[in-house]
Amino acid sequence: MKDSTIAKAQSHIMNTYASFPVVFVKGQGRYLYDEDGRQYLDFVAGIAVNALGYGHERYLQRVTAQLHDLVHVSNLYYNQAAPMLAAKLTAYSGLEKAFFCNSGAEAVEAALKLARLWAKANKGPDAFKVISMLNSFHGRTFGAISATGQQKYQNGLDPLLPEVTFVEFNDLQALAAAMDGQTAAVILEPIQGEGGINPADQQYLQGVRRLCSDHNVVLIFDEVQSGIGRTGQFFAYQHYGVKPDIVTCAKGLGGGIPIGAILASESVAAAFTPGTHASTFGGNALATAAASAVVDELMDEGLLEQVQVQGCYLAEKLQQLAAAYPVIRQVKGKGLMQGIQVTVPPGEIVSRAMAKGLLLVGAGSDVVRFVPPLTVTAAEIDACIEILESVLEELQ
Ligand SMILES: Cc1ncc(COP(=O)(O)O)c(C=O)c1O
Repeated sequence: MKDSTIAKAQSHIMNTYASFPVVFVKGQGRYLYDEDGRQYLDFVAGIAVNALGYGHERYLQRVTAQLHDLVHVSNLYYNQAAPMLAAKLTAYSGLEKAFFCNSGAEAVEAALKLARLWAKANKGPDAFKVISMLNSFHGRTFGAISATGQQKYQNGLDPLLPEVTFVEFNDLQALAAAMDGQTAAVILEPIQGEGGINPADQQYLQGVRRLCSDHNVVLIFDEVQSGIGRTGQFFAYQHYGVKPDIVTCAKGLGGGIPIGAILASESVAAAFTPGTHASTFGGNALATAAASAVVDELMDEGLLEQVQVQGCYLAEKLQQLAAAYPVIRQVKGKGLMQGIQVTVPPGEIVSRAMAKGLLLVGAGSDVVRFVPPLTVTAAEIDACIEILESVLEELQ
């Protein structure tokens, strides 16, 4: 960190992040620039947030226009932007109703509350149990962390929300065995993100849907990371031909402006009534206008198709590297949510790549993740692969 005023001020921020000593001051396209004007190719995108990259013209125009017109009014009143976004998200998800909030964890909270309210009203007062997956990640609030299947995030926080059971991901029998008459909801990521880019198997996800329907259990897909076009479908579950009762989204939705949402079927959504859930900023005019701009790029301007093309290209290039460098054990993911499982600590690759001007991020204990802006080009993928290859050369 070059600017000593910033460095001193930084000491007043709580010590929750092990950040790299770099301060970014500008972004353009898929590149970030630090205080010294050094350029970095960004395959992190704020961890799957900056869907349109930086300085995207149409996005800027629409956000700026909304900023001038109206930023926020309370949910005591209506604004124009939130219902327009709700109409788009429900159309593209195949679900009927939306609730807006501000982050991924908050969307997970809303989903868990809605599922419990629905189950208690429709199955009985004892239907409050939640089944989640080992190796999952759902966020840092108490409810979301209680549903997260990784002990390291829960250390020191107990007692957590009771009645959450964890089962192996991609193991249908384990899920079936864990379900009983008290099960309100099953929550899972169709592609585990923080856990290491682990896609659900086709038959598994279809089986999960069937089990939940048969047992009258609310199926929640957490698509905070995999949703909003990231995998080449609007939601990752659309690759599988199954539909949840509730889906969560956040991250890429606002293109960098904080927003979260849940979408739910008409019947499940009916469990929310005035007073049962709320969020001061939820449905904020600026955030929902920004999200509409992102969604329109994906669905009206051909970006979703572009993600499919570039996602295939990235996967293919990573496969080629895997064939040449044994340090890569496996390439996994969908669309522009890709990971390489490696035999060295992922941090080793991330640091070396950063020194060469490429931003990457780890996932789980042994995966390096590639989640660039959805606007990434083939030439930028080539540039990423070239830098990655020179890192792998060094590690041989
Ligand atoms: C699948 C999933 N759910 C929830 C969250 C939490 O989102 P947020 O950090 O916006 O609270 C994340 C964040 O990485 C995530 O990947």
